[in-house]
Amino acid sequence: MKDIFQPFVKLLTLMVGLLVSITLLTALVIGIVIVVSSGGSLPPLGEKPVATTLSTSTAVVDTYRGVVPKEGMWIAPAWNTVDQEPNADAIKYGRELIANTSEYLGPNGKVKKLSNGMNCQNCHLNAGTAPLGNNYGAVASTYPKVRARSGQSEDIPKRINDCFERSLNGKALEVNSKEMVAMVAYMEWLGKDVPKGETPKGVGIYELPFMERAADPIKGKSVYAQQCQSCHMEDGQGMMKPDKTGYVYPPLWGDHSYNDGAGLFRMSRFAGYVKTNMPLGATFERPLLTDEQAWDVAAYINSLPRPKKDITKDWPDISKKPIDHPFGPFSDEFPEEQHKFGPFKPIKEARQQAAK
Ligand code: HEC
Ligand code: HEC
Repeated sequence: MKDIFQPFVKLLTLMVGLLVSITLLTALVIGIVIVVSSGGSLPPLGEKPVATTLSTSTAVVDTYRGVVPKEGMWIAPAWNTVDQEPNADAIKYGRELIANTSEYLGPNGKVKKLSNGMNCQNCHLNAGTAPLGNNYGAVASTYPKVRARSGQSEDIPKRINDCFERSLNGKALEVNSKEMVAMVAYMEWLGKDVPKGETPKGVGIYELPFMERAADPIKGKSVYAQQCQSCHMEDGQGMMKPDKTGYVYPPLWGDHSYNDGAGLFRMSRFAGYVKTNMPLGATFERPLLTDEQAWDVAAYINSLPRPKKDITKDWPDISKKPIDHPFGPFSDEFPEEQHKFGPFKPIKEARQQAAK
């Protein structure tokens, strides 16, 4: 009897084993899909998780889409420590204004109507805390400073108003208003542990290496269609929230976008921002575009119509214009076209020669 059943028992064990393996595998795959689609990033294989090497490992690390700054990179103070500050209410209101600017100060703003419907956070990701996401880590430590664009010393309120007038194509906010005081309080709190004068790693925008050739808007158009259009839309106008208090996907050109005096209108700012942050889900550790794709898509988007700003008073010393400032006159012989699209290396070399 026993001998007759033995093959069946074996087969049964084998089938059960197979079933268990399949179930486990499926669960694993589903797990990975969930992690990836929720925007988390998988730790690179064979590398120690970075969080444990940071001195702040005891604090709650404020991560953005699962990205932890690498060792040495600036990291925002833990949000749950804000209540220790005497001006905690102002700091909290400041963060709220950075994240949901439009709701308070946009075209239908409940405090004032002075900007174009975008939020600061659309460009300063995670309320200005994301590593290489155009964060505010060095604002408290480096302002006030003389900026070549205005030729003047600028304090934090002046710099904030630059973004209101250019990136949000709007009007300046009163420097004594509750809103300005709150945004400044938030930025000072963010940078409270950065020594005066220092710019830590991971702050601001990634410096993308120059290409040998000029950035190409035609190549950029196909990058746009494949990598950007699904969110920012074919017409570049993005998508509003149903209640119109802000954007789900912000616009990239046209009347509601940043104007031609804004930082992103410079190719290096745009390409560097996009390389480490777009399409949404990209990070400095896991970029989704090649350097060439980032430059070319910048060329395409910054070739399309957008609001104009009177910038005749900018760059009083023209020799201080950035290499990729696209409007003359220049202190060199290169045409506007090359200052806009590149190739930038020859301009950089000529400047280095001239400085010798
Ligand atoms: C369309 C994109 C965009 C929007 C929206 C935007 N900014 Fe900016 N902002 C930039 C860029 C680009 C820079 C320059 C970064 C660089 O050159 O490294 C910048 C720089 C700054 C800086 C200086 C940072 C530094 O370290 O020097 C501050 C402060 C700032 N923005 C505040 C704001 C505030 C407040 C808002 C909302 C009212 C805002 N920005 C909205 C794109 C934007
Ligand atoms: C999956 C959706 C998605 C895709 C795809 C995507 N973006 Fe974005 N993009 C966003 C969102 C959402 C924001 C605003 C982020 C925030 O507010 O936290 C944004 C912000 C931006 C900004 C700054 C704000 C502005 O409107 O000026 C730029 C520039 C940008 N994206 C460029 C691109 C480019 C170029 C591509 C293609 C290479 C791309 N994006 C692909 C969702 C997307």
